[in-house]
Amino acid sequence: MMTKDLQEQILKLKKEKDACIFAHSYQSPDILEIADLTGDSFALSVKAKAYACKTVILCGVRFMAETLKMLCPEKTVVLPVADATCPMAEQIAPERVLAFKKEHPEFAVVAYINTSTELKAVCDVCVTSSSALQIVEKLPQKDILFIPDKNLGSFVKAKLPQKNIVLWEGFCPVHNAVTLEEVLAAKAAHPSAKLLMHPELSADAVRFADVVGSTADILRYAMTHEEDCIIGTEKSIADYLSLVRPEHRYYPLSKKLMCPDMRITNLSDVYHALNGSGGLEIELDEALCRQAKRPIDEMIRLGS
Ligand code: 13P
Ligand code: SF4
Repeated sequence: MMTKDLQEQILKLKKEKDACIFAHSYQSPDILEIADLTGDSFALSVKAKAYACKTVILCGVRFMAETLKMLCPEKTVVLPVADATCPMAEQIAPERVLAFKKEHPEFAVVAYINTSTELKAVCDVCVTSSSALQIVEKLPQKDILFIPDKNLGSFVKAKLPQKNIVLWEGFCPVHNAVTLEEVLAAKAAHPSAKLLMHPELSADAVRFADVVGSTADILRYAMTHEEDCIIGTEKSIADYLSLVRPEHRYYPLSKKLMCPDMRITNLSDVYHALNGSGGLEIELDEALCRQAKRPIDEMIRLGS
């Protein structure tokens, strides 16, 4: 079926089923075009409540769908492809965090939102890449354990020398794979371009950025400035910018910046999720959900 026909069928089905489509900005343009809400992981969680629909089809990865379910338990939340997970979210066993807390009760445990629900349940507050600095700065504790992303954690640590931030050894396998050599080569190839970087890139690489920010920050900067930009995050963002602003030049920082999990969902999966013939309906244990929602609520309180 042609893309336009499939999009029309999805829009029709969406109305019939009282459903909304939420899509992370890394999703493909044919999904973004028919989404009711698009944005970075912070926007997808804080804006969710404003939608009155019965069902949400969440195009992104599993932790985003689970976060949404915790915030809107009355909604049916469906992830179109059950295998769409973020490998970073599973990098730490919750028992290891519990053991750290037992030994260091004075520490606040800050979890990047890219974590499993089980892991969120043992943390004090969640952060996203767009809200991490603001939230960690506001915490009353000086001692902070930042999990799991050592790169986002290093970025926050460098900006907040007044805090004692201990990092975990986690990382995003996609962003962390970009080397310093690639960054220097991209700068040399496009010397007048602004270099926009996601803080999931290595701390070494991020030193060369003109702007460091979340997916939404990168999009906002690129959309509102006239300069050419090197886009240091998932390549879909450079592709999207080139599509919507063809008169400007957007260069992907590296060919490696392609997340298989974010790219796995297609329009046909969205269709099947809507008509009930595919996808994974998110169901969470009630007690676990109550525990894991606390740090998300705290993130919204401190980050809004
Ligand atoms: P954002 O918080 O920028 O949406 O990042 C989510 C993500 O998984 C980036 O790789
Ligand atoms: Fe996870 Fe990295 Fe993919 Fe984002 S880009 S979903 S952090 S693996």
